[in-house]
Amino acid sequence: MTRSTQPTRILVVGGGGREHALAWKLAAEPGVNEVVVAPGSDAIAREPRVRRVALDPLDAGAVVAVARERAVELAVIGPEAPLAAGLADALRAAGVPTVGPSAAAARIESSKAFCREVAEAAGVPMAAGRAFAAADRDRARAYATDLAKRGGVVVKADGLAGGKGVTVCDTVEEAEVALAAVDGPLVIEERLTGREASLIAICDGGEGVIALPPARDHKRLLDGDRGPNTGGMGAYAPLPDVADADLGALLDAFHRPLLRELRRRGAPFRGLLYAGLMLTADGPRLLECNARLGDPEAQVVLPQVSVPLGPVLVAAASGSLGTSAADRLPTLPGATVGIVLASASYPAAATAPQPIDGIDEAVARGAIVFHAATRAVEGRWQTAGGRVLTVVARGADLAQAAEAADRAADAISWPGLQRRHDIGRLAAVGAGASA
Ligand code: AMP
Ligand code: GLY
Repeated sequence: MTRSTQPTRILVVGGGGREHALAWKLAAEPGVNEVVVAPGSDAIAREPRVRRVALDPLDAGAVVAVARERAVELAVIGPEAPLAAGLADALRAAGVPTVGPSAAAARIESSKAFCREVAEAAGVPMAAGRAFAAADRDRARAYATDLAKRGGVVVKADGLAGGKGVTVCDTVEEAEVALAAVDGPLVIEERLTGREASLIAICDGGEGVIALPPARDHKRLLDGDRGPNTGGMGAYAPLPDVADADLGALLDAFHRPLLRELRRRGAPFRGLLYAGLMLTADGPRLLECNARLGDPEAQVVLPQVSVPLGPVLVAAASGSLGTSAADRLPTLPGATVGIVLASASYPAAATAPQPIDGIDEAVARGAIVFHAATRAVEGRWQTAGGRVLTVVARGADLAQAAEAADRAADAISWPGLQRRHDIGRLAAVGAGASA
């Protein structure tokens, strides 16, 4: 990576577990005076050198005003919705160096049909599949039925769905139910099997690309990869089955061609490009792209990074990451495991707030506890949404990190708490798949 200065004042947009991890990482870097998190959360505001500003991240005018008022040298946009709505365009137009793609480039996440179109044009390997307009129901049904009979089909709503718009179907009947649940345009794909990998790269809009450590999310609600898909129930990094030496080849096969194709279409991508891969017997295949860090991937990837992230993000924001950069950021030895603690009814709508016990004890057991949806009420933490906390622990290897994360998560309780007990366990390594 090229030499770049450490920003002293940074704006992080968002307020979930991913943004807690970003603020935690950036605020601890030498030279940083203030990290403004908008809207942040009660928990994020307790990090040293972090200031919380209440606003709606979809209100671009309000975000730009805060960036100016606090004189930030860098803005990092966490969630997909403000990216899709053009917040990065507004910040850049106001002269704020920003990590986050334009609305045009963020379509790689906000439209699965666009993602397939770009990936196909770029020659990126992915599942056989097709996009269908909302009105094209009969052909969609016929195509899905055919794939279901040949080993499984995946039905995806085209737009943003908080990680819940995808249904993996074994049978024609399941595919019928999944199709009936989608109103608008959709994508239908053959069902692939294998282990998944989330490979997120920092991109500067040109040729500069540098990978964060690869991570594995666990999308299903229940142990052993059973139950419905969720936004993610836990993650670990790095991956025992993706060697450092493979990262360059993965960037060449996925990120670089996608970035080139977006540039060719006049939509250069300056931000964090997340390739959701399935490592199939025939090689890696693209399942999805996100235009941002993953959640909960960020919570395990950022603690692995051994260098200050601020200068790298400034270089990306200013288009000067450079091509002589190493393929990946330097990382700490060992592994990091994060376990998501969710409310009773997750992934359905959240239930009434519940008092949370044991966060201090989890920290005393050596974990970092990132808050996704909590509120401090009269000095006590309460749940305030579906995915509530991510309990993160590091260890000398994956097994030790998993053990430490489990022990820390065991300390935390509230009525109806749901969580997995197999995140990072070797038995689950092959999972996080579509099984
Ligand atoms: P997506 O939002 O497209 O990443 O899909 C969410 C999850 O659905 C992925 O992480 C996979 O677990 C699963 N999935 C998506 N596409 C496929 C596919 N073609 N075959 C099997 N599973 C898939
Ligand atoms: N963990 C998957 C995502 O952030 O989309």
